[in-house]
Amino acid sequence: MLGVCYYPEHWDEGRWELDAKRMRELGISYVRIGEFAWSRLEPKRNHFTFEWLDRALDVLHKAGLKVVLGTPTATPPKWLMDEHPEIAPYDQNGQVRGFGSRRHYSFSSQTWWRESARIVEIIAKRYGEHPGIAGWQTDNEYGCHDTTVSWGPEDLRAFRQWLRLRYQSTDQLNEAWGSVFWSMEVNSFDEVELPCRTVTEPNPAARLDFWRFSSDQVAAYDKMQVEIIRKHSPGRWITHNFMGFVLDFDHFKVGENLDLASWDSYPIGFVEKFPFTEAERNRWAETSHPDIAPFHHDLYRGVGRGRFWVMEQQPGPVNWAPWNPVPKPGMVRLWTWEALAHGAEVVSYFRWRQAPFAQEQMHAGLNLPGLDEWSVGGLEAGAVAEEMAKLGDLGAIGKAPAAIVFDYASYWSTKIQPQGRDFRYEELAFRWYEALRRLGLDVDFVPPGAPLDGYRLVAVPCLMQVSDAALAALENTDAVVLYGARSGSRDRFFRIPENLPPGPLAGLTGNRLTQLSSLRPGIEEGVAGGASGHAIRWREYLETNAEVLARFENGDPALTGKGKHHYLACWPDEALLSSTLKLLAERAGIEVLDVPSHIRIRRRGNLVFAFNYGPEEWTAPIKGDPILGEKRLKAQQVAVWRV
Ligand code: GLA
Repeated sequence: MLGVCYYPEHWDEGRWELDAKRMRELGISYVRIGEFAWSRLEPKRNHFTFEWLDRALDVLHKAGLKVVLGTPTATPPKWLMDEHPEIAPYDQNGQVRGFGSRRHYSFSSQTWWRESARIVEIIAKRYGEHPGIAGWQTDNEYGCHDTTVSWGPEDLRAFRQWLRLRYQSTDQLNEAWGSVFWSMEVNSFDEVELPCRTVTEPNPAARLDFWRFSSDQVAAYDKMQVEIIRKHSPGRWITHNFMGFVLDFDHFKVGENLDLASWDSYPIGFVEKFPFTEAERNRWAETSHPDIAPFHHDLYRGVGRGRFWVMEQQPGPVNWAPWNPVPKPGMVRLWTWEALAHGAEVVSYFRWRQAPFAQEQMHAGLNLPGLDEWSVGGLEAGAVAEEMAKLGDLGAIGKAPAAIVFDYASYWSTKIQPQGRDFRYEELAFRWYEALRRLGLDVDFVPPGAPLDGYRLVAVPCLMQVSDAALAALENTDAVVLYGARSGSRDRFFRIPENLPPGPLAGLTGNRLTQLSSLRPGIEEGVAGGASGHAIRWREYLETNAEVLARFENGDPALTGKGKHHYLACWPDEALLSSTLKLLAERAGIEVLDVPSHIRIRRRGNLVFAFNYGPEEWTAPIKGDPILGEKRLKAQQVAVWRV
């Protein structure tokens, strides 16, 4: 199914009917509205002007569109900010981040919780049973514009409270944090300060707890909205639209309260946001890297426990990246099919029509600015709609043969203590994902502790803290497992385990880490044996009683295997990572298919999809003729087989 993001409040009411009619003609089934409409719903406190939204809902519903209604809490109105300045968030330097754009609130402000609950309840009561509403979107893109963490007085008050609940006494807090170091001990929780604005780096344990606290706040805030909506809108599903490459809160925790996950896919915009090399950025500038969108499709399918939408699909140039090129012809169509191949239930484009005013007037839509005239993206969306009508039901997405254990707390921990400037968790996880996909493997994402039954190959790029639940899941799986460096290297208080890293994983891996070296760019160390390539950025020194499958140049163990549990004691370059995963896939009895760097394969039910990010053509080694597209895929083309 296809959808679109629409802002009735941006257009003369006289245009709504034609807009709705043209949406249906294009093949649009869902329309998301309302997430930024607070000042138009309540221009002054207790002065409500809902009538326009009543009429817009009726127009959309009558046209046969199913509505996703957003709660408008991402844009608190000016009258509220003036009444309650304590709502505003603070940056790390103690500066208020004020009114005039969006996301200008702190998750810790009690006033904000009260005002959010108030407006959500009013809207959910009014529209909860409207026949046109299929589902709800809470707020918009938690964490966007770096707004997960706020560093103000409200955050300090809430953080102290969170610590009281977590550590029954300051003795326990001082002990857990190792506060004796540099005389950082406190005699009361009211002496705790935010881990910022310090002379040199603050205590890593304090930073990790503050990050956990900030993440918990997002999950608790969203749960508050979800519970209110559920009360007044029975039978409607609830989602939140997550972003790409935002890891500063645990999305799995927010997903636990949602019926499905959704995310905002701007494949080309993200090429600039991710630490790619300049060569990669230039190569993928007008198509995106073949794994950027799929990485998130698979991650958010996991966050949504098997269900996800693309709530905002890039339809053309965006406005917020350093450079914003026009996508190569065919890419909006390719990205749509790719999302569907990865299990998306709906792909909804952002936005129906390019706004001729305000911050996003340079952001494409399905229609040209202010007009009833298709953009290139609009025409491609129409083409997909026709093709989808021909293919019919795409079937359910099955469990992938491989899973990545994805851990937000490991991102926080390595951000707090990189030890090597270029040790980036998000990049490591992405490169492991890329390597699995280059072997033609479909991949699921699971949180630490989730059962690993049914997977043949489990990749754990870096799991710094290994909880009891995570250890149990790893002990109980019969998959072949590969742990990456730094796994098990800290306990939950950010302390080095007494038995040395990999801590709780020592038994499973047979390893013991005695030294580690972070390598500056240009310094690398060869690895040879069952896998070969080079260690870059990070190299560990292990003692092991496991089988050594590959060694560093000086003979030290680089890749170890004890039963099904393998450990890679470095940040691998592409060659080493690929050969390691190929070796493990073989041990797992999984058939791999080496695909070129610009090609990807994805299975959904009895369909096999192939995507060519180009420019080179490629002939798919898949039996029979495709039901869509050509066996020899041209650049930016898609092919689908029913097998
Ligand atoms: C995000 C937001 C949208 C819009 C787009 C622009 O996804 O959710 O409101 O700002 O970015 O790309």
